[in-house]
This record gives sequence, structure tokens and C-alpha cells, in this order.
Amino acid sequence: MDAILEQKQKAALEAVKHVKDNFIVGLGSGSTAALAIEALGKQVKTQNLHIKGIPSSYQAFQLAVDCGIPITTLEEHPQIDVTIDGADQLTTELFLIKGGGAALAREKIVAAASKQNIIIADQNKKAAHLGANNQFVPIEVIPFALTPVKQKLCELGAKPVVREAKGKLGPILTDNGNAVIDGYFGEIANPADLAVKIKMIPGVVETGFFVGLTDIAYIGMDNTVEKIAKQRK
Ligand code: A5P
Repeated sequence: MDAILEQKQKAALEAVKHVKDNFIVGLGSGSTAALAIEALGKQVKTQNLHIKGIPSSYQAFQLAVDCGIPITTLEEHPQIDVTIDGADQLTTELFLIKGGGAALAREKIVAAASKQNIIIADQNKKAAHLGANNQFVPIEVIPFALTPVKQKLCELGAKPVVREAKGKLGPILTDNGNAVIDGYFGEIANPADLAVKIKMIPGVVETGFFVGLTDIAYIGMDNTVEKIAKQRK
């Protein structure tokens, strides 16, 4: 197994230990969250674990169904016991950037509905400041508003790039039918403040900043798993 995949796997296995019988579980998106979904699927099949999953994307939905995890909805269960999700970048304060897979809006809805949020990642995702290493901030935008939103993001100091689809001509469309602008801001001094300013722009649906939402992060390292825990305010 390659080293990064092994780090993701170790983090995923730590996170699923938090899932108890009869829990409603928020299912994150991306390659790391997929490992947690697969691990939970195995427990459902072989250890008689009874859970219901609320997927944060079509990717998570399809994988959960393939793995035999019963699916439920926020309508039936507006409060989730625990959500396990990945991140594109995180700091030791547990400030995150998410949305590399364009699932940021549903991921944030699921996270906000969760009593506990656990993030799993490989060691490359750690950074001293969000925006370091040319990490962009994904921003979900109603297509009608793309150009004015780009202009406003420039005024906030970003280089905005509309994300192009692969396997389809033109911009990527999210599970909600919206476009994504990747905002290159450089290192971000105050993510919470910037998140509010971006969210105020008409046409912006959601930003990839996750601030004050995460309880625990498990970061897979070569020989161990680092745990960072925070008291949510
Ligand atoms: C999906 O939109 C994202 O928020 C993912 O959780 C994030 O991009 C991490 O993905 P990987 O685990 O594939 O790196």
C-alpha cells in the first residue's frame, strides 16, 4: 500500500471507533472519507453494527449503498450522532478548508447537524495557516452570479478560478447544480472573518472554510496517528 493511502487508512480506522450501535452517521466525501465508509460497511456486515448513514454527496451515497450501509435523511434524522469526513487542509486550531471534491455545501450542512465531527487526513493536509502551499478555497456559486462573484473575490484579494469539469465541457457542476470558484488567497490570517465576507456576496452558496465545527482530527503519520481535539465553542 502506498504511504499516503496507509496514513489515510489508519486515520479512518481510528475515527470509526467513535461509531456506536444505533448511531446516525454523517458520511463524508473524498478518498479518505471513503475509507471510513468502507470500514463501517464491513462492521455492518460482519459485526452486526446497526447504523444509518446520511451521505454528504452522491459519491458517499453510492459508496454507502455498495457497502451495505442503510441510508437515511436529514428529514428523518435532523440530528446526526457523529460525522466522519476528510479535509483538503487543516491547522492545529482545527480550522479547515474543504471542497476539493466540490461537496462543500452538503458537507457543511451535515457537519452543522452533527453532535460530533471527526476529520481524517494524511499528514500532507496539515498546514500552519490555511491557504499555505497554494491551497485554494472552494466556493460554491449560483452559475448566474459567476462573473460578479469573481469580481468581488478579486476585491477581497483572491485570484478566482472557475473550476472546469473533467469528462464534461465547461464548468464543474456540484450535486446542487452550482458552479465552483477556487479562490487563491495565499496564507489567510483570519479564516473566520474572510468566510463571513465571502458568504455575504450575493450568489455565494457556501465557502470551503470549516471553522469551529470540528471536535477531533485524526492525522495519519508514518508510524502513528496524531489526534487533535478541541472544545467546540
Ligand atoms: C470533498 O468536497 C472534500 O471536502 C473532501 O473531503 C476533501 O477534498 C478531502 O478529500 P480527500 O480525502 O480525497 O483528500
